[in-house]
Amino acid sequence: MADGTAKSMTVYKDKDGGARLDRPERIVSAASYDDDVRLDASVRPKTLNEYIGQKRVKENISIALEAARNRGEALDHVLLYGPPGLGKTTLAQIIANELNVPIKTSAGPLLERKGDLTAILTSLESREVFFLDEIHRLQAAVEEVLYPAMEDFRVDLVIGQGPGARIHPFHLNHFTLIGATTRAGLITAPLRSRFGIVHRLDFYEPADLLIILHRSAKILNIQMEEGGAEEIARRCRGTPRIANRLLRRARDFAEVRAGGNITRGVAQEALAMLGVDESGLDEVDRNLMLALLDKYAGGPVGVGTLAAALSEEEDAIEEMYEPYLMQIGMIDRTPRGRVATPRAYQYFGRELPRRQPRLF
Ligand code: ADE
Repeated sequence: MADGTAKSMTVYKDKDGGARLDRPERIVSAASYDDDVRLDASVRPKTLNEYIGQKRVKENISIALEAARNRGEALDHVLLYGPPGLGKTTLAQIIANELNVPIKTSAGPLLERKGDLTAILTSLESREVFFLDEIHRLQAAVEEVLYPAMEDFRVDLVIGQGPGARIHPFHLNHFTLIGATTRAGLITAPLRSRFGIVHRLDFYEPADLLIILHRSAKILNIQMEEGGAEEIARRCRGTPRIANRLLRRARDFAEVRAGGNITRGVAQEALAMLGVDESGLDEVDRNLMLALLDKYAGGPVGVGTLAAALSEEEDAIEEMYEPYLMQIGMIDRTPRGRVATPRAYQYFGRELPRRQPRLF
């Protein structure tokens, strides 16, 4: 990928060979790790009823599911977008489950040639779900295969080469594509327009995270008090994947140091040991905020400059770190770059400069 011409990007291997931008060792990363994939499988909700939060999305999908089931047709294509770890894959699996159809899964960076995608599309059964993660990272030529497939359930096979080549339309079974992306802004207009159902997943409310944590603790047979759950819910960045990961680390700590029960104090100690602070910020977040506050006088500073200062990738900053820092009001995006908010000055014990950037 880093060939000197294309934009260089650090890519860590994901659970299914896909790409991940985040640092492998980060405890509060929303990226999914091998450990998560194995353990999340046991706590992952299987039906829409078991799926907590995202009320509006759930209601809309529930209606669409019932209508498709009643008509005996494939569900319209679905696009799910939003920060990582909020349940896009889970929702796709639930949709297939609720429709009682199989699901095939792939990811944008895995489909290198048109043929890779064509092979999957031609194998889909009637009403089957095809989940395509990181759909914004499809190559343009591969993406074009999706257009007639989504619209007319057709792929155009090219037979032969050169002047004698012929196009042979191949009819596909009526399937449902569920596309997922963390970067809705990078989806091309022709692709986006072919999705009938488009939903953004938001960070979860603390009350929903508490329910998710108690549910996971019950399934995994973990002893946890309300106070312990509240501590984890507060520091998991509104992200169930992180909540479940912190829950497992808190359990380890509780078992080794505290007789197995996750009380508020045990959760606090465990999370402090992991370097996760009161607001769920870790070392990387703190370094980012301190660079912005101290090195660049609160901004505005371009994301490329910040990335270079931190030896991080621009994409990683935009995709993994910033969404939550913006959500909790530490950082703002302006046309001239990133700026620290008054809340950030306060949180990191820095004095607000007399002349604030024009934004405030
Ligand atoms: N685990 C991860 N996400 C969840 C959700 N939305 N509801 C229930 N359990 C979950």
